[in-house]
Amino acid sequence: MSDKNATVNLNGANLDMPVHQGSVGPEVVDIRKFYAQTGAFTYDPGFTSTASCESGLTYIDGGEGVLLHRGYPIGQLAEHSSFMEVAYLLLNDELPSQDELNDFTYTITRHTMLHEQLMQFYQGFRRDAHPMAIMCGVVGALSAFYHDSTDIADPEHRKISSHRLIAKMPTIAAAAYKYSIGQPFLYPDNSLSYTGNFLRMTFGVPAEPYEIHPAIERALDRIFILHADHEQNASTSTVRLAGSSGANPFACIAAGIACLWGPAHGGANEAALNMLREIGTPDKIPHYIERAKDKNDPFRLMGFGHRVYKNYDPRATVMQETVREVFDALKVTDPVFETARQLEEMALNDDYFKEKKLFPNVDFYSGVILSAIGFPTTMFTALFALARTVGWVAQWNEMISDPGQKIGRPRQLYTGPTQRDYIPLDKR
Ligand code: SDX
Repeated sequence: MSDKNATVNLNGANLDMPVHQGSVGPEVVDIRKFYAQTGAFTYDPGFTSTASCESGLTYIDGGEGVLLHRGYPIGQLAEHSSFMEVAYLLLNDELPSQDELNDFTYTITRHTMLHEQLMQFYQGFRRDAHPMAIMCGVVGALSAFYHDSTDIADPEHRKISSHRLIAKMPTIAAAAYKYSIGQPFLYPDNSLSYTGNFLRMTFGVPAEPYEIHPAIERALDRIFILHADHEQNASTSTVRLAGSSGANPFACIAAGIACLWGPAHGGANEAALNMLREIGTPDKIPHYIERAKDKNDPFRLMGFGHRVYKNYDPRATVMQETVREVFDALKVTDPVFETARQLEEMALNDDYFKEKKLFPNVDFYSGVILSAIGFPTTMFTALFALARTVGWVAQWNEMISDPGQKIGRPRQLYTGPTQRDYIPLDKR
């Protein structure tokens, strides 16, 4: 921590606040004593200028379009790593050795089954329930089945519940899809990779063997890597806030899933493909770009813009390359990709988007790929949640294992009525 100070002059008093510099990125002004020493709060709705915690997991430079996981650039991890290896990296400090990766993968593989009674939960949902509604309910219910790993003060319990969450998300998500189409659930197959297992549980049927397409398995594994973690985004902050009260990890991840569902966040991949389908052909793009620029029109280009990235989201670059890979592997063409490509090109050359530094984000192309693989749009955010569980769990562990962590309890700028006396009903 640096010995530099920032001085605030308020109500005649000068307050020096320590300034800290991390290993990279903006300095932070430590305002923890600000209220005690000034009687005033700082004010930052939406946390546009607020660092909520110290973390060593993920670093984003929004201006340069840089994303690092424990220092490793996302482009290198997407090209050379696997989702299991990135999961290990996020949960520990370093990339695993071959033996460490084998042990980790073995452990995760053997936690993929769900309690048989938990599988009954699905019967309580309508067949047309949104998979994210099911994910919220079933993941939250995990805490009813795993009392043996909810003592968050015990590192071993934290480790087991972390592994259980990472391992069971593919089974839960695949079952949500199967339930929606009236097909039987498939049990996990421990001979398959993490992503291969998910593909089989999703698209396989009991009546015949399921052949995993290696290029699709690789592409989906890479998509999981791209979604694994992303600093203190809305859903991760939700998980941290829930965890700060001592809530069990299953309940915290269920809270993260609920937050991710929003169209401004993880729900944008579903919204982006729906938007592209609504636009239809490239000749309609100018009309939609004008709508996105119209202050009186709530329409926004879904999959565009980002709170942090004011440059290209490096994940979107990998996604665009993956579209071509999947289309070639499946020998499919979908005109929606050309519409997406032309929309991106027109928006990036439009002064409004240039001035506001709005670029495609991770959600812009992901739906095109997932749709080509065969997922319905309603499953897109469930896949995002599947992958982001690794980041949520790693961030939760980082917070809980910090001996100095406190319950999160923001204050407010109160603008309601000042104190007044009750008026009896017959006097109103
Ligand atoms: C994710 O935080 C993360 O890291 C999230 C995420 C992760 O991995 O966890 O990266 C995943 O959530 C990606 C973002 C997915 N959401 C979308 O694609 C939805 C569309 N995008 C927007 O809603 C918006 O860009 C946000 C929500 C993503 C960011 O909003 P901000 O930072 O609050 O910015 P803003 O709404 O204040 O916008 C700034 C200006 C506004 O215009 P003015 O009021 O200044 O005139 O840009 C405009 C906005 O109207 N704007 C857009 C726009 N996004 C912002 N205009 C048209 N289309 C858009 N998509």
